[in-house]
Amino acid sequence: MISRRDFLRASLGGGAALGLHSLLPLAGCGHEAKRNLLQLPREMSGTTLTATAAMDGSFRLGGALPAPTLRAQSGSTFSLAVMNQLGEPTNIHWHGLLVPADMDGHPKDLIQTGGSKQFSFAVRQRAGTYWYHPHQHMGTGRQIHQGMAGFYLVTDAEEQALGLPSGEFDVPLLLQDRRGEELRYTPIGNDMADGYLGDTPFVNGTPNPFFEVAAARYRLRLLNAANARIFKLTLADQRPFHLIATDGGLLASPVETTSLLLGPGERAEILVDFSRDSLGSSVMLQSAEFTVGSGGGHGGGHGGHGSSSGTPQGAAMDLVRFDVKRQGPAPGALPSRLASLDRLDMQMVQRTRRFVLGMREGVTEGMHTINDKLFEMARVDEQVPAGTVELWEFQSTDAAVIHPMHMHGMQFQVLSRSSGPLGPSDQGWKDTTLVFPMETVRLLVRIGTDRGLFLLHCHTLEHGDDGMMLNVELT
Ligand code: C2O
Ligand code: CU
Ligand code: CU
Repeated sequence: MISRRDFLRASLGGGAALGLHSLLPLAGCGHEAKRNLLQLPREMSGTTLTATAAMDGSFRLGGALPAPTLRAQSGSTFSLAVMNQLGEPTNIHWHGLLVPADMDGHPKDLIQTGGSKQFSFAVRQRAGTYWYHPHQHMGTGRQIHQGMAGFYLVTDAEEQALGLPSGEFDVPLLLQDRRGEELRYTPIGNDMADGYLGDTPFVNGTPNPFFEVAAARYRLRLLNAANARIFKLTLADQRPFHLIATDGGLLASPVETTSLLLGPGERAEILVDFSRDSLGSSVMLQSAEFTVGSGGGHGGGHGGHGSSSGTPQGAAMDLVRFDVKRQGPAPGALPSRLASLDRLDMQMVQRTRRFVLGMREGVTEGMHTINDKLFEMARVDEQVPAGTVELWEFQSTDAAVIHPMHMHGMQFQVLSRSSGPLGPSDQGWKDTTLVFPMETVRLLVRIGTDRGLFLLHCHTLEHGDDGMMLNVELT
């Protein structure tokens, strides 16, 4: 028996199928944007990726926007040649992968214009959603914004045995925001201080997308590849979903939640169940409103910095509309156990380090600091013994801005937050974590085993480019 409501939704859905999307008002958002069919990232083929500048202002890897998805089996050797025909220096960093220092894309290791670099390394990572992007100091924000970012998906036997949704039901979603549909990066005013915020969501390079799904369970791989935008992911009808993986791969077991914070650089894999949705219905994946400042009152504002373009940090944003269009396979039972996860504990800690995230007043450049320092290419800031476990404390003295802190060459587990209990995105192995205004976040860090020069930086790309970055040497 079909209810009147379902019937109405079905008929509206039928209208959508005839191409009337833009005429359909959606509950909960003021003005409805024209929606475009979501593109899926191209899969990598071949052994060379060439960086080029396109006429539309985008920077492309392999001619694609976003960059093609790379895939690797844990335990294999990965090789790829990157050729630089951009017209400016670039390089590639494998975000989340533990690779030798000379393969890590440190900003001192640039691929000059017209040059190329052969990357080759063993993939030692657990199955997970990793990504790759340039790391040209002071140019990272522009190069990523203009399109140089892609997925790097690792699989392993443990993951394959779980029977998670696969094939068309395993969907990578690369989340960004831009200004209008402009692909060029044009920072003005306080963009360096606040981070470059857009007003238009792009998913896999598609502005304001919709995606046609079956009434089935999906595995969504979410990557925040935005310069500065933090997403608070929710489904518009507040339905619960299951978090199954964070930055460094699968959790021990699924975590049910209705919302998930994802800062720049972070990834999450979630299972979303559309199997009980009627054909013709839709549900929006949104970024819900949240408060940025510590002291209330900011209500999603910029913390008083003044003029900037783009939707304010913390304001609500529609990301992608899922239109349920066809029947799908019935979802089996959710696995209760996902993967084995080594837990770090205080007994393993050999040393504590503290990183104070600060602000310099009265400057327009180099505003955000770590331990009062701005990045210097040739200065080594920390020397850390490879293969050890350390306790790292990030203490924010910044009352206005959230900093997504990221480390190369190591992974960590979040131990505590001074602001309250850990959230779902604090679970599992991480390489990037949000540090809220005036908050202290304590991390148990497993230092990687590759010696050499790595980085610690804020993944708000404007902050990193502006100097909120330190050199960390693994010794
Ligand atoms: Cu995704 Cu050093 O960064
Ligand atoms: Cu990284
Ligand atoms: Cu920052």
